[in-house]
Amino acid sequence: VAQHFSEGVLQGKRVVITAGPTREAIDPVRYVSNHSSGKMGYALAIAARNAGASVELISGPVALPVPEGVKYTPVSSAVDMLEAAESSVDQQCDIFIAAAAVADYRPEQVPEQKIKKSQDKMVIELIKNPDIVASIAARKDKPFTVGFAAETQSVIAYAEGKLQKKNLDMIIANDVSDQRIGFNSEDNAVTVLWQGGRESFSLQSKSLLAGNIIDLITSRANYSKN
Ligand code: CTP
Ligand code: CA
Repeated sequence: VAQHFSEGVLQGKRVVITAGPTREAIDPVRYVSNHSSGKMGYALAIAARNAGASVELISGPVALPVPEGVKYTPVSSAVDMLEAAESSVDQQCDIFIAAAAVADYRPEQVPEQKIKKSQDKMVIELIKNPDIVASIAARKDKPFTVGFAAETQSVIAYAEGKLQKKNLDMIIANDVSDQRIGFNSEDNAVTVLWQGGRESFSLQSKSLLAGNIIDLITSRANYSKN
């Protein structure tokens, strides 16, 4: 397959990417999380680096090697990830890509000691986490901001809604009900939406797709040389 990815096209640009799941503590030994593998975010970090960008990868816990030539910031919870993202964007950011599967809620009370088993039923109260990509997109110095939409139904309609509501420049819609292209797969097929346009990418490896997405971001953000 021809790699047409524009080499050096992101030279001098700073790209910040969130990836992987977040972990929300229940107590010192337990957490709430999800099945995100981090593969898509890591592939995007590598593709952006290959395009010449200076890349910071803010990652929840995953089982992937740290990409070479990338600034790596490991985090655990959504609140930690937000703090890392804001301070990274404070330094400078041209493109922000939110590939992380951020836990939407976290336990409200986190006891310092391990919870002991007692009742037959237990309830954990959860409160909403901050929306990281929406916070970045609300900044005065907003970078070109890209989100993902992980959906199991009405994929395009929900993605379109998130594009508007979060004030994103682009959203990558992902049908996670399909096992071939879900959270943990090697391959992915997506539709990328922006204000007044869209492009679909057929099933392909996450690394090939990442290169295509970086190319598309580069041209939508007007960084293309041609
Ligand atoms: N996202 C984020 N911070 C959150 C939740 C989501 O930055 N607290 C980002 C994700 O990284 C992704 C986009 O928002 O780029 C959409 O995430 P998704 O889970 O699909 O949407 P939600 O807005 O959380 O809505 P819902 O889960 O109800 O569909
Ligand atoms: Ca969510």
